[in-house]
Amino acid sequence: MTTPEGIAGLATRLRRAQRVTVLTGAGVSAASGVPTFRGPGGLWKDFRPEELATAAAFSRDPRLVWEWYEWRRQRVAQCAPNRAHEVLAAWSRRYPRFTLVTQNVDGLHERAGTRNVIRFHGSIWELGCWQGCGGSPARWTDDTVPFPELPPPCPGCGGWARPGVVWFGEPIDPSVLAEADRALDCDVCLVAGTSSVVYPAAGLAGEARRRGAYVAVVNPDASAGAEDADLVLAGNAEDVLDEVEAALAGA
Ligand code: APR
Repeated sequence: MTTPEGIAGLATRLRRAQRVTVLTGAGVSAASGVPTFRGPGGLWKDFRPEELATAAAFSRDPRLVWEWYEWRRQRVAQCAPNRAHEVLAAWSRRYPRFTLVTQNVDGLHERAGTRNVIRFHGSIWELGCWQGCGGSPARWTDDTVPFPELPPPCPGCGGWARPGVVWFGEPIDPSVLAEADRALDCDVCLVAGTSSVVYPAAGLAGEARRRGAYVAVVNPDASAGAEDADLVLAGNAEDVLDEVEAALAGA
């Protein structure tokens, strides 16, 4: 349960802050209707990540993997950003140095107009060539829903295209890692809607804190990432961020 002191405390920190970094996970999109991974009704309850979100799974059965991403693309295409996305988009325009590092591949932060978004795990709206043919850019955007054929072809070589997401066992793009690392030098680091169990993303908040940032966590599960937090606001992001924004506006 969030406390007025907690909300007011975070608002005070944000009012003084110049450099604000936000780390988000699937929970931020839950109110938009995008399923989380590990929460109630989470994707990994019905599907096995090793069967759908690894390179080995794709080489074994690319059609099965694409059917799953196609289902998620269709689902996300029907969703709209919620109040949490809106507040964070407003912050991205308000703070001189604002960075949003998201694990979400749904593109809802961008659709809300958020500036300076780092897609830590890629995007469900991007594709890449499975063969790495070089005949096409490493990643290209394609929001066709549904694709006329699965797997969709690579425009460069006609071979299979793969989803532009980071699968389990795959490294984070070094330039993305470097950008996220720079964002950890901040005054306030807000962590919203992540179970903080998947690394390296789960290690970012602790590193920001070691560098002196004030870390606040927003999650209905008060234990998620609490070990790295100065403040835990146990509630839904769409409600808590709305309260924080009201406190900021009320100054
Ligand atoms: N507001 C804030 N947090 C919420 C909300 C909400 N409305 N609803 C649920 N949550 C919290 C849950 O309590 C849970 O801690 O969001 C978290 C979602 O956790 P996960 O489903 O594990 O999602 P995430 O942390 O983003 O997963 C990390 O794992 O499966 C991979 O690559 C995938 O990026 C993903 C990564």
